Amino acid sequence: MRAVGVVLVLLASLLSPAAAGATGPVTAKATATATGPVTGPATSPATPEGARHEVTYDRYSLSVDGERVLLWSGEFHYFRLPSQELWRDVLEKIRAAGFNGVSLYFHWGYHSPAPGSYDFTGVRDVDLLLRTADELGLYVVARPGPYINAETSGGGFPAWLKTVAGRARSSDPGYTAAYRDWLDHLNPIIARHQVTRGGSVIAYNVENEYAVNVDAAYMEQLQQQARADGIDVPIAHNNCCNGDLANWSSGRGAVQIPGVDDYPVGFDCRAPDTWGQSEGVTRRLRDDGPVYAAEYQAGAIDLHDAGYGACRELTGPDFMKVFYKSNAIGSGATMFGYYMAYGGTSWGWLPQPNDVYTSYDYGAAITESRQLTAKYDEFKRQGYFATTVAPLTKTDPAPAPVPADPAVFAQARSNPDTGTQFVLVRHPDRRSTADVATELDWSTPDGRYRVPVRVNGRDAKVLVAGYDLGGQRLVWSSSEILTHVGVSGRDVAVLYGRDGERGSTVLRYSSAPTVRVLDGAVRASYADGDLRLDYTHSGLARVLVSGGGRPPLVLLLGTDETAARFWRLDTDQGPVLVRGTALARSAAVVGDRLVLRADTDRAGEVEVFAPVRRLGVGGRTVHVRRTPSGSLLGALPGPEPVRLPGLTDWRHRAEPPGAGETGWVTADRTTTASPIKPKALPVLYSDEYGFHQGSVWYRGRFTATGAERTISLNAITGRRGVYLVWLDGRYLGSAAGGTESDAEPVNPDPGRGDFAVPEGLLVAGRRATLTVLVENMGHNDDWTADDTRFKQPRGLFGAVVRGSTAPISWQVRGSRPNDGERGPMNAGGLHGERAGWHLPGGTGWGRPPSAAPPGVSWYRTAFRLDLPRGHDVSLGLRFDDTTQRSHRVLIFVNGWNVGQYLGGASPQRDFVLPAGVLAEHNALTFAVIATERLPGGPGPVRLVTLGNHRTGGGR
Ligand code: GAL
Repeated sequence: MRAVGVVLVLLASLLSPAAAGATGPVTAKATATATGPVTGPATSPATPEGARHEVTYDRYSLSVDGERVLLWSGEFHYFRLPSQELWRDVLEKIRAAGFNGVSLYFHWGYHSPAPGSYDFTGVRDVDLLLRTADELGLYVVARPGPYINAETSGGGFPAWLKTVAGRARSSDPGYTAAYRDWLDHLNPIIARHQVTRGGSVIAYNVENEYAVNVDAAYMEQLQQQARADGIDVPIAHNNCCNGDLANWSSGRGAVQIPGVDDYPVGFDCRAPDTWGQSEGVTRRLRDDGPVYAAEYQAGAIDLHDAGYGACRELTGPDFMKVFYKSNAIGSGATMFGYYMAYGGTSWGWLPQPNDVYTSYDYGAAITESRQLTAKYDEFKRQGYFATTVAPLTKTDPAPAPVPADPAVFAQARSNPDTGTQFVLVRHPDRRSTADVATELDWSTPDGRYRVPVRVNGRDAKVLVAGYDLGGQRLVWSSSEILTHVGVSGRDVAVLYGRDGERGSTVLRYSSAPTVRVLDGAVRASYADGDLRLDYTHSGLARVLVSGGGRPPLVLLLGTDETAARFWRLDTDQGPVLVRGTALARSAAVVGDRLVLRADTDRAGEVEVFAPVRRLGVGGRTVHVRRTPSGSLLGALPGPEPVRLPGLTDWRHRAEPPGAGETGWVTADRTTTASPIKPKALPVLYSDEYGFHQGSVWYRGRFTATGAERTISLNAITGRRGVYLVWLDGRYLGSAAGGTESDAEPVNPDPGRGDFAVPEGLLVAGRRATLTVLVENMGHNDDWTADDTRFKQPRGLFGAVVRGSTAPISWQVRGSRPNDGERGPMNAGGLHGERAGWHLPGGTGWGRPPSAAPPGVSWYRTAFRLDLPRGHDVSLGLRFDDTTQRSHRVLIFVNGWNVGQYLGGASPQRDFVLPAGVLAEHNALTFAVIATERLPGGPGPVRLVTLGNHRTGGGR
């Protein structure tokens, strides 16, 4: 039975989809009623319950039933969050940030332990994932690979594919048969969730950055298979390298919507202020399709171990303002996939070790522990705008207003139907930190104006002119638009600017309207049909404008910070605004009451602009009063404190080298499908013997001569991996594993270790046993599509006993193919893993020794959680050991491998414990691999609170 987070709030899964307030993005979209099976085997029947829609596109945008859609999506990897209830949590957070879509990779290796074997249950239930997206009204770009890259083991390929003859990512028959099986299982699940069948999947992305060593027949066959499997939405591809290499925009294998991936500030987080030369403007690759920023940088992998905090800084709000806005106006893209919205955890053996460690936090807007950051606020400011202001869905380049001071750069687009203009202002050099104030000479659709603008530091703004904002006419504003809604016959609009900067907004009326400044300092003047408001952005100013031939307008003028406190939620009665809570997940209008699901991180105000008189939050009625702005204002409590138990009473269990008599396989292969050939035979690559994840034990037996001097080994582990060597039970030492060899051996000596044979250990004529533990840190990717990276071996690559010519007979033993509900990538090949020591329960644990010998030792403790009810508490495990001793720790929580602590070999000290693997009573088990004697065991570790929100009524 899977542990259920009984004390952790089950978040939205407790609420009915109706209460969740099914929503539509800007373009109304009926939401499918999800009635699929609880688990999603590929054979489950199609569930076309929702209304069917037509998806079309032209050079401007996608359209659903003829209505244009600006697709503003964020990337999410379900396989990096092993908890179905937390999928909903994260998807709700993504939606609440203003995203109307998610981009989803599907990970072949995560579902397939062996050829022909596929699992779509539990944390692999992608039918449930797609249903959840349906219920939340998020469009989905489905990205099933077969190759996905994504810094995950094998780039998403199952490791067994390394033993299949035929070049991966080509039309070679061996590979073709393998991937077809995968897609024939997956495509029907995706197909039944297409918008065209009442679901959410709006586009289907084949392959991934297929740019070098390409095979057009393969690209064509992938699309033919998708169509044969029922995919009828547009097919896209994400091109790398600004589309400069093969880009699939024409010719054989071309896709309908070729997109471009762009990471304009790269992956070196060590100098987070350094922006390179890249413009980051998405290239148009086809004239008849929309411009698609398929993957746009929204974080970074931590290639140089700077820590994800630094990656979040590198790709922080300044970067987002300058690059995202420059791209929107520079390219006219209407399809965006921000990579990542939430990164998550490469738990188990998911990491592709050469680029990442356990955490895939990515410096994303939502942290690995599901907390919202300043980047989330910036996404919200831009995403609300992008999904509110409909004329953005169809724009052409337009003449830009001329700044009086060339130290400000202006660029414009306009909508050919509405005339609405969008003007980008920034520094000509994006990296400039100057503070420049000037005026634009702007010919708007409603007349020519001198518009004051300021760019202070690394900043960019998109200003709008000639826009029908609800029932109002916005002539121009030097403030930016967050969003606007219509509530009970009034328009409520939120505009914002940087704290302390001046702003002006001009609205058109047929006669002088009545202006009441409800809050803040705003000057109003009226002349010739123009109402002009002048103010300094500070806190939240409020202006009520009525009369003048238009419906009343409540204009809310905020700063970046106060604007970000607003939430826009869709209800059956139209969108509503909520202000003040740390998160607002959903809202429903039930009679005269707004039923709100919102999180608080402190006690404070809640304000709603909705067509209601009463408010309920988290199942409680909130006492409210009506404000002059027409909203309801009340107060909400913050969270209760969290108390965590200490981690004490550790128990211990030794795993002697090569322990366990069962499961050994004779290593006798003389051929391999890998283009990387071994130094000597037999082939010792662990994958050849069906052992694909985690550590592998080797046992080599030979007859000693007594003349042996040195044992020379080569092992390939992937970056940060080690291997350990014993001879006749005597520990000889360890070495760092290599990352790769070459087809033509430029690097014939990967992961070389030379181990002296102790004097007198071996006796002539006696059998000797060499025992080797080789870590497999995960499999290389296949970005180059030529097998030479992907089919790099794992395990021993060469073994020579110097001073002897005696043949060695080898045995190997590694991981079992599957670990039950935890899937094929949870457990490796330690004896303890094979024997289930990582699972809760079991006997044979004793008092820890004062020091563990080099090799594998197991440690175990239990802890009980008593967390406040109605709260979402995110927990982590923190390693306080700063001595950087030579050990590494596989961390199992209730049997789930939540990551690997690598001591000084990675910057990671905190490991996120997903709520779905926690229960009230928990078993914490460590498999410790020490390359030296380890006094004191695994060292100080403790539970830490990484986030605490009240989500419901509380105790
Ligand atoms: C892209 C790739 C993604 C991911 C990203 C870097 O090139 O398509 O899968 O690897 O780079 O995080």
